[in-house]
Amino acid sequence: MTHAVTSAPTRVSGQAAGPAGAAGEVNGADDGQAGAAASSAAADAVRSDAVAPALTAAYDGLPDAVVVTDAEGVVLVFNAPAAGLTNIDQRAALNRHVTEVLPLVDERGNDWWEASGAGRRLPRVTGQPERRLTFAGPAHDHDFNVTVRYTRDAGRLVQVALCLRDTASRERIERNRSDLVATVAHELRSPLTSVKGFTATLLAKWERFTDEQKKLMLNTVNTDADRVTRLLTELLDVSRIDAGRIQMRKQIADPTAILRRVLAGKIASGAAGADKFVFQQDGELPEMWIDPDKIEQVLHNLVDNALRHGAGTVTVVVRGTETGAEVSVADEGDGVPEANAARVFTKFWRGASRGNGTGLGLYIAKALIEAHGGTITVGRATGGGAEFRFFLPAGAPVFT
Ligand SMILES: Nc1ncnc2c1ncn2[C@@H]1O[C@H](COP(=O)(O)OP(=O)(O)OP(=O)(O)O)[C@@H](O)[C@H]1O
Ligand SMILES: [Mg+2]
Repeated sequence: MTHAVTSAPTRVSGQAAGPAGAAGEVNGADDGQAGAAASSAAADAVRSDAVAPALTAAYDGLPDAVVVTDAEGVVLVFNAPAAGLTNIDQRAALNRHVTEVLPLVDERGNDWWEASGAGRRLPRVTGQPERRLTFAGPAHDHDFNVTVRYTRDAGRLVQVALCLRDTASRERIERNRSDLVATVAHELRSPLTSVKGFTATLLAKWERFTDEQKKLMLNTVNTDADRVTRLLTELLDVSRIDAGRIQMRKQIADPTAILRRVLAGKIASGAAGADKFVFQQDGELPEMWIDPDKIEQVLHNLVDNALRHGAGTVTVVVRGTETGAEVSVADEGDGVPEANAARVFTKFWRGASRGNGTGLGLYIAKALIEAHGGTITVGRATGGGAEFRFFLPAGAPVFT
């Protein structure tokens, strides 16, 4: 009996297509008469509402919108995502012709079912690669990326299955990508213009400048070349983050030691005097399984931001809790207005600051903290400036 039901859609199309002989052979092996009668009953059941919704229900759990028709285009399956995507009632779609239920037109305005008729008749054609089709919906038009597969039995078309995907999400990704390219091009152009300008000037008029002037120009070139390198390094990080490929190398490490190293580095490089920082530790930290390089990168950017965008003393506090470590970096500058609290963590956001940053630091920091299972937020420090605070769970070794 199971056999009769599973082969039911096949049988329906077999009958609709006309030649009943081929389909009859399947059951003819044991008892020609009874078999034919049973499967014809099953076919009727499919056509009636009794079995078709059950068949559709099996497809409802799929992530994509799926529509299955018989060889003639009569809808056998219209799954729940298809109903959601098209706003068409699932049951109302069944047993009607696909052109009636889901009129799809190609980019030239041709009816898709009509236009693809030739392919359906060719025994070797197995389907259609993904293409964009427009569904002229009752309220408004909607574009879908549609893939089609033909099921054939000895070359004869039995079933047509359509997979529909909303184009909106892919368009958004494409738009984001082209925005990113535009921003990157813009960010690279200004330092490169200065590198090119100063180099060309020096080459053309070397004799006319004093050593002092030449040194100034070369210094600018040097700084701008550093800026391009930093931007490219950050962009590589961003592309890794966006592709979901941050590689974590977790090991036992002490965030306090990393922090001391970052602060010492700032003082040694002359970016800040030793009296610029106040460092405090509250409580013992549990054993922390973290990626020290990533945490150093985060701390580096937070301290760097406090020095560049903030003002006054920079207070860094590490607090140990039972489950992990909480680190806060606060300054006494203007702070981040509450309205921008979420925006500072987005790509290329620089606010009013016209410093030589690229606005990627906090985006990367957030991704790295989240890759550790932690969280990062910004608020107002008691001293009035910005206070960035992140929590890092103690973590556990990863066995891979
Ligand atoms: N401590 C702070 N005080 C005030 N504003 C801040 C502070 N930290 C960050 N901001 C604001 O948030 C913006 C984004 O910071 P982010 O670190 O992402 O980029 P950036 O420092 O400009 O460039 P970079 O990519 O070199 O880090 C900054 O441009 C600044 O406007
Ligand atoms: Mg920064």
